[in-house]
Amino acid sequence: MGVGCIRASTKRFPDGECYTRIECDTIDDHVVVVQNTYPDGDLVEMLLIQDAIKSLGAKTVACVIPYFGYARQDRLFNPGEPESAKVMARMLEMNTDHVVTVDLHKQDTLRWFSCPAVDVKAAPAIGEFFSDHEVDIVLSPDIGARSRAEEVGKIMGVDSDHLQKTRLSGMDVRIAPANVDVGGKNVLIVDDMISTGGTIVAASNELKKVGAERVYVACTHGLFVQDALQRMACVDEVVCCNTVMSEVSRISVAPLVAKALKETQ
Ligand code: R5P
Repeated sequence: MGVGCIRASTKRFPDGECYTRIECDTIDDHVVVVQNTYPDGDLVEMLLIQDAIKSLGAKTVACVIPYFGYARQDRLFNPGEPESAKVMARMLEMNTDHVVTVDLHKQDTLRWFSCPAVDVKAAPAIGEFFSDHEVDIVLSPDIGARSRAEEVGKIMGVDSDHLQKTRLSGMDVRIAPANVDVGGKNVLIVDDMISTGGTIVAASNELKKVGAERVYVACTHGLFVQDALQRMACVDEVVCCNTVMSEVSRISVAPLVAKALKETQ
């Protein structure tokens, strides 16, 4: 964006509580805070940083939340549960004038923010990254993520479709035989996030079983819990965006986020 950076230093007290300090005495400007709200400790840091910036006199505070935690519990699946995404939004908007997220699990989570909020799509960056991979078709693991696959496919000028996923447990999923002919083709699977890798392992095994030549995988948020990256050894290449940093965070969404911020000014 062509603007300067101020560090926020944080540390933990012996009891685990968070201490943070913005390293300047006053701020007479518009400020952008970039911070994930996952894992839980980062959410607390974000809330404290927002308050500290306001008390330094910032004119406005825009919060960029590259990975918005708790987005998957966006409604009540069973009685007695919380609407976790709503709870997070309500806390985060306390000291925020504007929110920018990246590839939220469900777009309608934005409705819980009473301040202006936009969701940046990583599809252009993913499409550009794979433009030299000779991909024949882009697939999503389920119908819910199909529009993401369509967007990437459109950018790359190739077809897109979706697979059919059933979740069996936290770690395992079943992917129904693909309705689409992938024989001899290079397939790119696109999803918003990879957690345990169960979805991708099942999808990749199914696609290879029915003759896919190469299976590439791109996700926006690579959480890669436990041995997820090792579990996905059956995949020819796995990459993710830099919303959550890992050894395969090779796609930057920074230009797209900067563009969204500039458009809001
Ligand atoms: C679910 O709806 C998401 O879009 C991802 O497909 C899911 O979170 C991936 O989880 P895992 O890697 O544990 O299968």
